[in-house]
Amino acid sequence: MRRPVFIAEQARNASGPLGRLIAFVMARETWGDNLAAIDALNLQTTDHVLDIGCGHGRALGELARRAPSGRIAGADPSELMVEIAVQRNRDLVRARRVDVAHAGVESLPYDDAAFDKALCVHGVYFWRELEPSFAEIARVLKPGGRVALVFRTSRSKATAAFPSEVYRFWSLSEVEQAMARAGLARAIAHDVDETQRPIGITGTRLDSSGHS
Ligand SMILES: C[S@@+](CC[C@H](N)C(=O)[O-])C[C@H]1O[C@@H](n2cnc3c(N)ncnc32)[C@H](O)[C@@H]1O
Repeated sequence: MRRPVFIAEQARNASGPLGRLIAFVMARETWGDNLAAIDALNLQTTDHVLDIGCGHGRALGELARRAPSGRIAGADPSELMVEIAVQRNRDLVRARRVDVAHAGVESLPYDDAAFDKALCVHGVYFWRELEPSFAEIARVLKPGGRVALVFRTSRSKATAAFPSEVYRFWSLSEVEQAMARAGLARAIAHDVDETQRPIGITGTRLDSSGHS
């Protein structure tokens, strides 16, 4: 069944009591996909990691657990999601192990080459454009740094449930081409039937001589 636009809109930009409820449900629904993305990053204990569209921030605590000597950042353009993510991870935020920024992928408030790893789970549907977004991710990654994405492609049977006024489902080749143009060498992280399941892919930032 197709979700009403006002519910779908909360996934893109959560606010108010309904946004809180959606964030709570989302944190459960997407957990398996977040673990798949985190696994694909092959985290080292000292890694600095960015979660783009971190939403409720459940993944931030897991990232901090797996990179205990690193630093973890989340970025999200929804003020409510930032508030929830900070509250959920308040001890880690107080200890300066986790930081959450109010920002979208279009303009990430970090220095060049600030991160070893990045992830984005079920977020690409809300990006206005792919290539500039991937270029921004490549900018904040160190050469050789890796980004993991999990998303439903335009071939997914589930797309019918999400209103096109809010969600944009990209084809796998659109995503792959945009990553390549932004200097991210991609690999399939988990090879699934994209009509049935979200797909996982990784991109590795090439260095200036084009090596990953
Ligand atoms: C479907 S939720 C997924 C949240 C979380 N990653 C998860 O797996 O549960 C999508 C998130 O992307 C955020 N978002 C929307 N537009 C965005 C943009 N342009 N850049 C980054 N994040 C965005 C939303 O605020 C929301 O928190």
